[in-house]
Amino acid sequence: MEVTKLVVLPAVLAFFVLCLHFMTRMARLRNLNLPPGRLGWPVVGETLEFMHAMVEGNVLRFLQERVEKYDSRVFKTSMFGNPVAVFCGPAGNKFLFSNENKNVQVWWPSSVRKLLRLSLVTKVGDEAKMVRKLLMNFLNAETLKNYLPKMDRIAQHHIDTYWKGKEQVFVHPIVKLYTFELACCLFLSIEDSAQISKFSLKFDAFLKGIVGFSLNIPGTRFYRAMKAADEIRKEIKMILEKRKVDLEEKRASPTQDLLSHMLLTSDPSGKFMTEMEILDNILLLLFAGHDTSRSVLSLVMKYLGQLPQVYEHVLKEQLEIIRGKEVGQLLQWEDIQKMKYSWNVVCEVMRLSPPVSGAYREAIKDFTYADYNIPKGWKLHWNTNSSHKDPTIFSDPETFDASRFEGAGPTPFAHVPFGGGPRMCLGQEFARLEILVFMHNIVKRFKWELVIPDEKLKYDPMLEPVKGLEIRLHPSSS
Ligand code: HEM
Repeated sequence: MEVTKLVVLPAVLAFFVLCLHFMTRMARLRNLNLPPGRLGWPVVGETLEFMHAMVEGNVLRFLQERVEKYDSRVFKTSMFGNPVAVFCGPAGNKFLFSNENKNVQVWWPSSVRKLLRLSLVTKVGDEAKMVRKLLMNFLNAETLKNYLPKMDRIAQHHIDTYWKGKEQVFVHPIVKLYTFELACCLFLSIEDSAQISKFSLKFDAFLKGIVGFSLNIPGTRFYRAMKAADEIRKEIKMILEKRKVDLEEKRASPTQDLLSHMLLTSDPSGKFMTEMEILDNILLLLFAGHDTSRSVLSLVMKYLGQLPQVYEHVLKEQLEIIRGKEVGQLLQWEDIQKMKYSWNVVCEVMRLSPPVSGAYREAIKDFTYADYNIPKGWKLHWNTNSSHKDPTIFSDPETFDASRFEGAGPTPFAHVPFGGGPRMCLGQEFARLEILVFMHNIVKRFKWELVIPDEKLKYDPMLEPVKGLEIRLHPSSS
């Protein structure tokens, strides 16, 4: 009798309360005019269909099928155990980007949140603003331009080491060595190649487990990613502890890299980031800061290999820059400003093949969009593929045409490879510099053609060529 009172009755009561809560929620949802769409199987929802579209590199088809069937402005689905409203086109992007902290807030699936713990991506509101400001002090153009000669030197050394003298290379694995080396050097002052390659191997496991179900059991991608994240944090912690001593004893400089900057900069109230926050933010920036740019560089190589007239135009622009410089002089800020056509090419590459497929927000209150009710707590998704191929904005959308970005460029909120609004990518300027520096160095030294011209692309989690993009290299006569 006692056991019944102590265990069974509370359990029955809890079950009853849960059922009541569920039924009230369902009744409330039934009375709402929710966006049309399909929630799919319980818990799994349409996650598997979405992940399959990512792996097939055909997210556009996933979106188009639903847009045609339901509504071109917004439709509902369910991913990672949550109902999700997918906001489409520039209007959807505009709504999500301009409603941060009003109707919506940034949200990432639990795999991302568990791996990146206390970093910026899990912060919202004023706390996020503060962290962004602090990181932006290092990632803004004014600061980064001081690192430009260093970037150029790293690019030249990279090409001498991995490209020079080769007849054939796999682009995707080797450009990773460039973007990762740059991030290690500028964020942590690691310059030893052996240490960088060991570190980069740990990142592979981390990257492959960041998007998906967060099942932390041996054998899953997520389990391996969690283990890798712990090991990476341990390595960064060792560097951090040594740096504190070096800074105190004036062996390290306050401006030498992002780590010194994070240790020495406080918010306006005088508060410094905790050690754990520094570790998680460096982990975030190392991850966000190299795999995305690596994806863009592989895709730039693919399009330049396929389109000789675009390659020639980029080469012409880069040779003019070289002509204005003394032999051996490293790239300067003014040189980057002259790379207008090259940057338009990168923008067009990112339009046709966006490296990041999209991101998420959460409804922080009930609101209405396009006449539909969006309940508080729903997750909201915007996808780069939704507006980038819209023929009403980009005429003949499948054709490569860098001139779309001349003058005022495309209509606002249509070209969104870096997202938008208060949570827009923090590393846009860093990415622009590392991509242009690489393009400058590669086109002046090589021409190339693709071994598999129609090689497919997949998101894993960034867009990448499925076979690593093998190319035949020819040293350039220019
Ligand atoms: C071409 C390369 C890159 C692309 C296409 C890209 C794209 C994106 C996108 C789509 C988002 C989500 C924005 C949103 O939710 O509205 C994002 C966020 C972010 N990116 Fe990038 N990114 C690139 C390079 C970088 C680099 C080099 C860094 C760091 C040095 C970086 C750091 C970040 C950070 C910290 C966030 C989170 C911002 C926040 O939550 O407030 N990204 N990026």
